[in-house]
Amino acid sequence: MSALLGSGQILCIVGARPNFMKIAPIMRAFARPESALSARLLHTGQHYDAAMKHAFFEQLNIPEPDVDLGVGSGSHAQQTAEIMKRFEPVLDASTPVAVLVVGDVNSTIACALVAVKKGIPVIHVEAGLRSGDRSMPEEINRILTDQLSELLFTTEAEALDNLSREGIAPERVHFVGNVMIDSLRYNLPNAVPAQTTLTNAGVTDVDSAEGGYGLVTLHRPSNVDDPVVLARLLQVLARISQRTPLLFPIHPRTEARIADAGLEGLLADSAITTIGPQGYLEMLGLMKDARVVLTDSGGIQEETTALGVPCITLRENTERPITVTQGTNTVVGTDERAILQCYEDVMASGGKVGCIPELWDGGSAQRIVEVINAWASSAQ
Ligand code: UD1
Repeated sequence: MSALLGSGQILCIVGARPNFMKIAPIMRAFARPESALSARLLHTGQHYDAAMKHAFFEQLNIPEPDVDLGVGSGSHAQQTAEIMKRFEPVLDASTPVAVLVVGDVNSTIACALVAVKKGIPVIHVEAGLRSGDRSMPEEINRILTDQLSELLFTTEAEALDNLSREGIAPERVHFVGNVMIDSLRYNLPNAVPAQTTLTNAGVTDVDSAEGGYGLVTLHRPSNVDDPVVLARLLQVLARISQRTPLLFPIHPRTEARIADAGLEGLLADSAITTIGPQGYLEMLGLMKDARVVLTDSGGIQEETTALGVPCITLRENTERPITVTQGTNTVVGTDERAILQCYEDVMASGGKVGCIPELWDGGSAQRIVEVINAWASSAQ
C-alpha cells in the first residue's frame, strides 16, 4: 500500500453516487502535466451496486480506485465507524500530502475525521453549504467536515458567510465554482437522449417529444422513511402524472421504503413509470429533455439550474440557495397544495428563467488543483 500512496500525492476519497461526478474532473486536473502533485483514489464502498457505482466510474472515466474499503451499507453509526476503522490502516501505510473529500456523505466525514487525527491536512470540496436543518444527516457531515478542513473550496459566494459565522478563517476558503458543473459541461455532448433511455428501459407509454415528461427523484430519509409523507408525495405525483407523464428512476432506499409501506399500488394506478437507478449520461439526457424535474436531491437542483430546466424541490429548505435566487429552482416543501400550485405555475409560465451562477463555467477543478499545488509548495 505504501508504494501506492506515497509522498507528493493527494489522496482523493469517493464513497457515494453524488461524489463520483465531483471527483472525476479533479482526478483529470491532477493528471495534467502542469500539476506537481498527483492524485490517488480511494473508494469507501458506501455505494457498491453496479447501477450506483460501476456505471458512474465507466461513464465518467474515473480511474479504478487504488484502494477500495468495501464497507457497504449499514446504519449511519455502523457505516461511518466501519469506514473509519478500515481507512486508518491505509493512512498508517502511506504519507499523502493531504486527504481530499467532496460533498457531504458519510464517507466524507468519516475519512476527514481519521485524516485530521493523524495530522494529515483535509481538503473539502463543496464547503460551506448549509440548509440550516440539523435533522439532515448531510448537514451534520457538512458542518463537521468544514471544521476539520485546512483548505475549503466553495461553489457559491454565500458559503463564505456560513463558514465565517462558524469561525473558519477566510484565508482558508477559496471560491472556485462548482466541480459538479465541470462534469456536466464536459459530458453533456455525450448525454444519452431521453428517448433512447426510455426505449432501453422498455418504456413505451412515454414519448419524450410528445407533450413532454416530468422527471422525479426521491431518496431523502425525511421524504421516504415516514410512510405518511411518502404516501402523500406519491399521491401528489400521481395527480401530476395525469397531466404530465412522470418518469421516476428509483433509488434502492426508496424502492425498499415503498415496498415496506405497501404503496406500490399508488404507483401502479398512476402514469408514473419507475425505472432502475440510471447512469450519469442517462440522467443528463433525462434532465435536459424534461419539462419539469421534481426532486429532493441537492445535485439535481444544481444540474437543472445549469441546464435551464425548471426544478421543483420537494424539501422545506435547500443548502444550495443560489439555485433559487439565480437558477431555475423553487423549494416548495411537501405540502400537496403547494406542490400542485408550483407545478401549475411552471406549466403555465414555462418555469423560472434562471442564469448560470458565477464560476459555474467548467473550470472549477483546474482552479482547485492550482490552489492545492500552490498551498503544498508554500508549506514545504
Ligand atoms: C447517500 C448519502 C446522500 C446522497 C445519496 C445519493 C449519506 C448520509 N447519504 O444516501 O447524501 O444524496 O447517498 O444516493 O451519506 N443501497 C443499495 N446499493 C448501493 C447503495 C445503497 O442497495 O449501492 C441501499 C441500501 O439498502 C442502503 C440504502 O440504499 O441501506 C441507503 O444507502 P446509504 O449509502 O446508507 O445512503 P443513501 O440513502 O444512498
